[in-house]
Amino acid sequence: MLKEENARSVAGLSFAEATSEIANLSAQMQQADAAYYQQDMPIMSDADYDSLRLRIEALVALFPELERDDSPTKRVGAAPAQGFRKVRHAVPMLSLSNAFSDLDVEEFVDRVRRFLGIPADTAIAFVAEPKIDGLSCALTYERGRLVLAATRGDGEEGEDVTANARQVGDIPEKLEGDDWPDIMEIRGEVYMERDSFTAMNARREEAGLPLFANPRNAAAGSLRQLDARVTAERPVRFFAYAWGRHSEKLGETQSTVRQRFARWGLRLNEPTAKVMDAAGLLGHYSHIQEIRPDLPFDIDGVVYKVDRLDLQERLGFVSRAPRWAIAHKFPAEQARTVLEKIEIQVGRTGALTPVARLLPITVGGVVVSNATLHNEDEIRRKDIRVGDTVIIQRAGDVIPQVVSIVPDRRPKYAEPYVFPDKCPICGSNAVRDEGEVVRRCTGGLICAAQAVERLRHFVSRNAFDIEGMGDENIKLLYDGGLVRSPPDIFHLKNREENVKRLVVQRREQQAAARLTAKGASEQTAKAAKKNPPEFKDVANLLAAIESRRHVGLDRFIFGLGIRHVGETTGRLLARSYGTLDHFVEEMEKAGDRTSPAWTELLSIDGIGTVVAEAITEFFAEPHNRAVIDALKTAGVDPHPLERQETNSPVAGKTVVFTGTLETMTRPEAKARAEALGAKVAGSVSKKTDFVIAGEDSGSKLKTARALGVTVLTESEWLTLIGTG
Ligand code: IVH
Repeated sequence: MLKEENARSVAGLSFAEATSEIANLSAQMQQADAAYYQQDMPIMSDADYDSLRLRIEALVALFPELERDDSPTKRVGAAPAQGFRKVRHAVPMLSLSNAFSDLDVEEFVDRVRRFLGIPADTAIAFVAEPKIDGLSCALTYERGRLVLAATRGDGEEGEDVTANARQVGDIPEKLEGDDWPDIMEIRGEVYMERDSFTAMNARREEAGLPLFANPRNAAAGSLRQLDARVTAERPVRFFAYAWGRHSEKLGETQSTVRQRFARWGLRLNEPTAKVMDAAGLLGHYSHIQEIRPDLPFDIDGVVYKVDRLDLQERLGFVSRAPRWAIAHKFPAEQARTVLEKIEIQVGRTGALTPVARLLPITVGGVVVSNATLHNEDEIRRKDIRVGDTVIIQRAGDVIPQVVSIVPDRRPKYAEPYVFPDKCPICGSNAVRDEGEVVRRCTGGLICAAQAVERLRHFVSRNAFDIEGMGDENIKLLYDGGLVRSPPDIFHLKNREENVKRLVVQRREQQAAARLTAKGASEQTAKAAKKNPPEFKDVANLLAAIESRRHVGLDRFIFGLGIRHVGETTGRLLARSYGTLDHFVEEMEKAGDRTSPAWTELLSIDGIGTVVAEAITEFFAEPHNRAVIDALKTAGVDPHPLERQETNSPVAGKTVVFTGTLETMTRPEAKARAEALGAKVAGSVSKKTDFVIAGEDSGSKLKTARALGVTVLTESEWLTLIGTG
């Protein structure tokens, strides 16, 4: 929309019109700035932001006297005008699971022990190091020279910020010494020290530039600059604490690799400690908590890592986090504010979620104006009322929560909150099933909120990932009747003219609204109509849709929005069933709880009864099957997942472990088999390829023999997978 506005000539504008338009556009830019700098939550795309700026510049070029000193266009460090090149990480950049209590930490240590089968009287060394509150960055060195710097992005794919990283003093262009592997990807945190952050903001204030809310936003904003000269002027720093791809073995332990990093000229996050048990970890945690105010940089917890790299390797990963590390977070930060309103949001499964609209307040460096209230029982239990002064808390990236109310600040008018029993969007009854805490809209297909949420989920980053299909466009296409359910998306290319018409309508409505708001003449609205809008966005969107007809089956399954089926389960199902047709066929059969298909679904590791029931219920609904059929008719054809590890002799095989294993624990055996692309099942069937029988194998071994399934001893198995 904004781009079209740009296409509109400024030539015919009067001075008065230009004045009010500049005021309006500047206000929009200021809002966008606040969202970007203070909340690190951009509210408009970079392209739209850039269009605003260009439009103001065009207006100012026409009437130079309208140039304002505080014009947002004058500042450096605007959101980048166009994206950075995308880079795929050779080794995914994972996140860490969190511990919030001493108990969580003890459980972490126990889990590590149990997984490795290390008895309680044998020590395991851990390193504890500060968790830096910045943004992670991966630096690839080839023969000791920096060749690539990439942000984390979604963990699989980040952005190429090499030019900017070269401006950071702590990031060496060339590693010192000569004992580095030819290819060495060093990972760590880009951050800003508190003092330099304060000084930088003071300078910005003097210059009338928008302020950054906290050092992390400042570091992030400074690294993601299209003009590397801007990064060069910012006090950005870097700590090394991890690694990705490397062409040679790095050493025996986490601590020795850290020492090598230091010798190569990198800075390390300190203070660290090497300890032997949970008590030692907790001791270091208390120490770091004590010195936290004196550290020159912000930290949000302590990271614990198993020191020995061979153990790290054995422990491996669960979904997106290593088993060998955990982040022990500092307690959440709290603040008081006033609850102005309770609003109900309707999700894709019809769940009614109450959201607190708050008088904006800064908590832990971020402005918070919304918080979740979870559900109606929570509201009742805490007796939360509109008008109350509430205590809110924010921990890490999680959505802020309302912890409690402050009873003696309650205004007299405050009434107990009555949770609606009708959907605020479609008016259908909203009911609570027995044993459920959530109230759901029963509108199903007629509920616009659910439909829009489902569409939003379908096109989201981890599902079909359709670029340009943002909230605004989904609403536009939904309200305009062009897209009511996912298959419609893939018919849009035949309805390009209708899409364009909707875009024009929106543009005109917006122009009219702006003019009415300003009380200006209708002349400009007419001018706007005369100029044909650019339809580049429409063309881009349609091209993006075309490019997503062949997504992976995991994305397809996730995109269906089946309850309890997240990305990980989507991947499990895609791996287990291979093709869409096979998956659908089996899920329909699995509706019969006595069928082999149901047993097989349940035998997939990671799928329990609740998930399995949700999936079969989904497929029992004719309209859900109709959506899948319609997607297929529209030419959507998901492809099977590549095997994680195609070279391994057990890739794609179904294996069952039974009895007591000697060299590894059961969880380790399973994790290792899965890492090699095998499917580990809990029970033996005709489809089982191998049964690995340890000591005292019982009925499973018998079944295997009866069915003629290949039975291996533990050492035969190890030989087969190449570690025996
Ligand atoms: S290790 C495989 N160590 O925390 C895990 N991460 O919550 C590799 N972070 O994305 C990460 N300080 O940006 C590690 N000392 C530290 C860290 C640290 C901060 C960040 C990192 C990561 C996030 C995960």
